[in-house]
Amino acid sequence: MKNYDFKNAVVGTNVLVPVLGGAKKKYINFDNAASTPPLKYVWETLHKFKDYYSSVHRGTGFKSIISTKAYDDAHVKALRFVGADPGCFTAIFMKNTSDALNKLARRINFRRGDIVLSSLMEHHSNDLPWRAAAKTVHIEIDGLGYLDLDDYKKKLKKYGRKVRLVAVTGASNVSGLIPPLKKMAEMAHRAGAEFLVDAAQLTPHRKIKMGKPGEPDSFDYLAFSAHKMYAPFGTGVLIGPKKIFLRGDPDSVGGGTVNYVTRSEVQWAHLPDKEEAGSPNVVGAVALSAAIDFLDKAGFSRIAAHEKELTRYALERFSDIDGVTLYGPKTWVAGEDRVGAISFNVDNHYHAAAAAILSYEGAIAVRNGCFCAHPYIQRLLRLSDKDSKVYRDEINRKIRSHIPGMIRISFGLYNTRSEIDRFFEMLEKIVTRKYKGNYYVGRRSGEAFPRNFRFPRMTGF
Ligand SMILES: Cc1ncc(COP(=O)(O)O)c(C=O)c1O
Repeated sequence: MKNYDFKNAVVGTNVLVPVLGGAKKKYINFDNAASTPPLKYVWETLHKFKDYYSSVHRGTGFKSIISTKAYDDAHVKALRFVGADPGCFTAIFMKNTSDALNKLARRINFRRGDIVLSSLMEHHSNDLPWRAAAKTVHIEIDGLGYLDLDDYKKKLKKYGRKVRLVAVTGASNVSGLIPPLKKMAEMAHRAGAEFLVDAAQLTPHRKIKMGKPGEPDSFDYLAFSAHKMYAPFGTGVLIGPKKIFLRGDPDSVGGGTVNYVTRSEVQWAHLPDKEEAGSPNVVGAVALSAAIDFLDKAGFSRIAAHEKELTRYALERFSDIDGVTLYGPKTWVAGEDRVGAISFNVDNHYHAAAAAILSYEGAIAVRNGCFCAHPYIQRLLRLSDKDSKVYRDEINRKIRSHIPGMIRISFGLYNTRSEIDRFFEMLEKIVTRKYKGNYYVGRRSGEAFPRNFRFPRMTGF
């Protein structure tokens, strides 16, 4: 891994894709908050590993020994990556962040009356699992999308010792805003609650230090996805204190979770095996491990500096363009941290149509819709409960062609300023209606397409 040239760090950056009118353009991926392409280093590591791939924890062959060691070592690496002491914490490998948070919601032994304090800026994956497990109360946000610390303080005071867990995002997948996590952890602990960070949007961009259990500002739990940190091979990570998972039965049982079973008795395996039922995803673990090596060696200060500069530049370009509404802070706020996700709408264009024009004519991938964060989007769009009911009724009638939403661009370490320039060239064409196609929005799907155009079919997959 000698090459820390971010621009060429991931695979697929030179791919040309067809656009309306018959030409081909270099693909730009501004949808990194959803999933990132693999790092070349990850790809090369997997290429080497394939010859040694074998079953984990079950075989005696040389390849099994190599695979088992790689799998087990990846757990320790994941812990160290986020500053979690392997003596106190365990890392459990799951499919993704959602899977990890659902497991935790099942494994925390919630008692009747326990409250989870989550926030209105959460991705559904850090909201719905808590609603299913305990009474969940949401911390308010303000009109710009910042978490309301006064409301947090008020709710901690109001619910007191009933608050079992505070579960907040490390960074918003809509606005890129980063709540004051350390301060919030300290407040949660002072109130007798545990503190969880949904780090899905943080691990690719910032160094995380969980701290030691018992330290006032430490994090008790962390969840993240390898596919958002350049290792898209199916691994998610749940980190938490060992004592939580040593207690009781695992939520999912079967092969690999036991030391010994008789007709009537089960002795559970040590951690993390107890919590990882079935044959594990060793390829995903090796990929995650390689991504961690790359990110750590490339250095988060460099990564953050590059991505902040892209975000600052994009915000500056947005301020020069009329006919666009930005959500969240509209300018780069000096001294404030924010990851590179920016959400907006183009006036007089449905979000799906504007996103389609960017794709079909600009070869630029963005995301549109509500980004699995409906309450946050509703608040940022200032939708009333009455508005929401109208749209909910429409969805019930299978009409999705005017559900409100936004368009999001999100940056990864390999994106460049010239890609942002190309994005703004295309955005200018949308605002001034100088695009080529005639777009329609599917009533049932809510997706937009240009009339009389289909991407050529790819063969092979
Ligand atoms: C903040 C946040 N949390 C959780 C998730 C869920 O991640 P996954 O789809 O990997 O489960 C996402 C995905 O976008 C996210 O942005």
